[in-house]
Amino acid sequence: MKISSWQIYKRLLGYLQPHLGFFFLSICGYILYALTQTGFAVLMEKIVAEMDAPSARAYLFLPLAILSITFARGLGGFVGTYCLDRVAFNVVYQLREQIFASILTLPRQQYLQQNSGHYLAILIYNVEQVTSACTSVVRTLVREGATVLGLVSYLFYLNWQLSLLFFASSPFIAIAISIASKRFRKLAKSMQSSIADITHAATESLQGNEVVKTFGGYESELARFNRASADFKRQSLKMTVTSALNSPVVQMMVSSALALLIFVALYPGLMTQMPGSEFVAFLITAGLIAKPLRALTEINGPLQRGITAANSLFEVIDAESELDNGEITVERAKGELVFKQVCFSYTDTPVLKNIDFTMSAGQTVALVGRSGSGKSTLANLIPRFFERNSGTITLDGVLLEDYQLHNLREQIAIVNQQVVLFSGTIKSNIAYGSLSDKTDSEVRSALETANAIEFVDKLPLGIHTPLGEKGLMLSGGQRQRLAIARAMLKDAPVLILDEATSSLDNHSERYIQQALERVMKNRTTLVIAHRLSTIKNADIILVMDNAEIVECGTHQQLLDKQGLYAELHQQGFDSDETKIDQ
Ligand SMILES: Nc1ncnc2c1ncn2[C@@H]1O[C@H](COP(=O)(O)OP(=O)(O)OP(=O)(O)O)[C@@H](O)[C@H]1O
Ligand SMILES: [Mg+2]
Repeated sequence: MKISSWQIYKRLLGYLQPHLGFFFLSICGYILYALTQTGFAVLMEKIVAEMDAPSARAYLFLPLAILSITFARGLGGFVGTYCLDRVAFNVVYQLREQIFASILTLPRQQYLQQNSGHYLAILIYNVEQVTSACTSVVRTLVREGATVLGLVSYLFYLNWQLSLLFFASSPFIAIAISIASKRFRKLAKSMQSSIADITHAATESLQGNEVVKTFGGYESELARFNRASADFKRQSLKMTVTSALNSPVVQMMVSSALALLIFVALYPGLMTQMPGSEFVAFLITAGLIAKPLRALTEINGPLQRGITAANSLFEVIDAESELDNGEITVERAKGELVFKQVCFSYTDTPVLKNIDFTMSAGQTVALVGRSGSGKSTLANLIPRFFERNSGTITLDGVLLEDYQLHNLREQIAIVNQQVVLFSGTIKSNIAYGSLSDKTDSEVRSALETANAIEFVDKLPLGIHTPLGEKGLMLSGGQRQRLAIARAMLKDAPVLILDEATSSLDNHSERYIQQALERVMKNRTTLVIAHRLSTIKNADIILVMDNAEIVECGTHQQLLDKQGLYAELHQQGFDSDETKIDQ
């Protein structure tokens, strides 16, 4: 939907509401500042008049006047700038907060479709662009606008015929501005997407640093980054050309008007005589208009950039967050999960077809199947990371969407294929989010269950050791055990384990195995399993293939069946350390 600039202005103005006091103060400051310009022009007229016929107290009055005008100008400028910046920073703060809050509640699919640079660029670059719209634009508009207004009024007061003549040129100026304006907006849009590309290329290269280095991605990453960067440079230059051309053209027009004015005023017999001091004041005033007028034409660049940026900000703020219409809450669910005829697809191809199964409270269900058969997807439906297309999923007989989303997720602990750790200490990573009020000893006992306490205690500061970004100073197996400890500490009735397929040495493998067994005890566990021991211990094994559950039963039953499970078993998991995958 095309949103008009006016709607965006109006919405931005809405953000001013809480800061109206400072905003008006700033406008008053700038108006005072602007009036001093006209004051200066009036003063000039008086000085020239005094030169011709000096009056008694002029030598006192005029110097004092110039001092007062300068003082008022300084005061007005300061108050205007301080108050406006104060308002702008507040607005930026509020916008950033809203955008980030909105990003956090976006449905998962939304993130996956956008590159991560997109949201970063909005959060950092776009908000900055809106600041410049908020400050420089409002400043110029009020300060220079009032200056122009004051000077114009004075011109008309001095001689309205000459003024009309002078302003006959204004339509041409308007046309020049409108042409530039369209171009500014177009360029702003492509600059914004270049910034997103730059951020994207940089973050990906930084995150995938190891791959870049080992697979010789240096050249191609550099090329990709430089391409985006060069693109930005090109757009910026075009922007500069437009704005740099814009002002001399406007100035030339103003000068032409002035030239015409002087011609008319001086051509014998064309005009009634006006006093020399007034004519000098008229020319000075008309000349003074050029600068603020030019400033007014120059706000177009930042204004259009600001509008474009604000538009994308509002798109993010308005983005639909996850559906959360349920009203039911439970203290602690029993943990019975029932899937009935569940279908799901990310795009057109179905990823889950008519999934039917029941997990009684406390049961362990193992999900096995080839890579890409839909196991993780199925698990992701339980915490409602994605919404199924049809069928029903119930927890303790209540549809998942009838629970408050937050309450539903409180009932579920997840250990994922990729472990996510945040910068912070080991403790803050395990007692994360709603678990942050857990004590040191609770954290320690979770670490113990997860078989992690041993290596944690060897770290210099124990559970208070900072992990660095993403916990990269830990090994894969250690990270996994921390994730298990986190799930352990949460102590939720439903547990989802997406076992990592990455190979670990036998020692850590066994460690993790033990940890998992302890965590699974007394809760409903859906485990996407690649290890025979996990699979064997499960109460039921579901075998997935091509988006469907093709077999289910216990290990022995499935072996007897001589179907896909038996085949997978044959191919791979005859020892604890091999995986079903592929
Ligand atoms: N976000 C997504 N958007 C579109 N398609 C997706 C998305 N995530 C997964 N898929 C597709 O859905 C199918 C099932 O993926 P899923 O991650 O559920 O497989 P899996 O059984 O967990 O595999 P693995 O054992 O390798 O983890 C795959 O064909 C995959 O390409
Ligand atoms: Mg998976």
